[in-house]
Amino acid sequence: MLFSGKTAIVTGAGSGIGQAVAEMLAKEGARVALADLFEEKAENTRRIIFQNGGNADVYALDVTSKESVDRAVAKIAEDYGTIDFLVNCAGYSRILPFLEHTEEIWDKTMDINVKGPFLMCQAVVPHMKKQGHGNILNFSSQSGKKATTHYQAYVASKFAVRGFTQSLALELAPDNIRVNCVCPGVVYTPMWEAQIADYARKRQITVEEVMPRFARNIPLGRIGQLEDVTKLVKFLLSDESAYMTGQSLNITGGACVD
Ligand SMILES: NC(=O)c1ccc[n+]([C@@H]2O[C@H](COP(=O)([O-])OP(=O)(O)OC[C@H]3O[C@@H](n4cnc5c(N)ncnc54)[C@H](O)[C@@H]3O)[C@@H](O)[C@H]2O)c1
Repeated sequence: MLFSGKTAIVTGAGSGIGQAVAEMLAKEGARVALADLFEEKAENTRRIIFQNGGNADVYALDVTSKESVDRAVAKIAEDYGTIDFLVNCAGYSRILPFLEHTEEIWDKTMDINVKGPFLMCQAVVPHMKKQGHGNILNFSSQSGKKATTHYQAYVASKFAVRGFTQSLALELAPDNIRVNCVCPGVVYTPMWEAQIADYARKRQITVEEVMPRFARNIPLGRIGQLEDVTKLVKFLLSDESAYMTGQSLNITGGACVD
């Protein structure tokens, strides 16, 4: 198994991409700290991993709260001894015309998507420095490379994640800690379930038409699958990518080529 004996923290592990990443890591032999705001969702991921013979533990945490992050990471470090990987998947997205973006939506988007990875890295990096190695993955998006309408808060947050990743990668390279960024295109997860009705209404199409409409505009002809993303994560966390840091890699079926 590729990640036997490794330890990982995955935020947003209770749903969608974070859940799929956690399952992949456990299948490859890692012990995985499932970190999510909703304990019951992380618990569900843990059950699935256990049923498949993997090893995982639940740590409820709010990535927007320094106190909550510091407490959870200190407990994980105590329980695990080392923290080899940090994968920041927790995220939030609302699609709304600019003038319907409230201050609350702006703050929530920036807090979860940008401050979250910042706080997680601040808590985890001292452990990685001490152990002499580490590998961090942040989740941006194709929206972190190319803007679309009705998405100002999300787009701003995902551009910020790429900048944060680059700056941190430069600073931590001498410590043997790599920091990279994953930029998925559309992957149907609970994040989309929460906003697909809004998206359809704004474009005056039915909910059923939304995903096929996306697929028609993707050069490879389909929306992304969770496995497309986890294969890239596996590569970036493995030694196959040992000479890569500070990168933001698209996994978009060609929808974004920048
Ligand atoms: N699904 C897509 O199409 C897509 C595309 C590009 C990028 N992304 C990015 O990938 C990441 C995962 O997206 P997803 O589609 O799996 O989302 P999702 O909504 O399915 O899962 C997000 C998870 O984050 C958790 N979370 C939210 N706020 C939190 C907080 N304050 N503290 C801790 N956990 C919190 C939620 O409970 C949930 O389990 C996000 O950063 C998202 O922006 C997703």
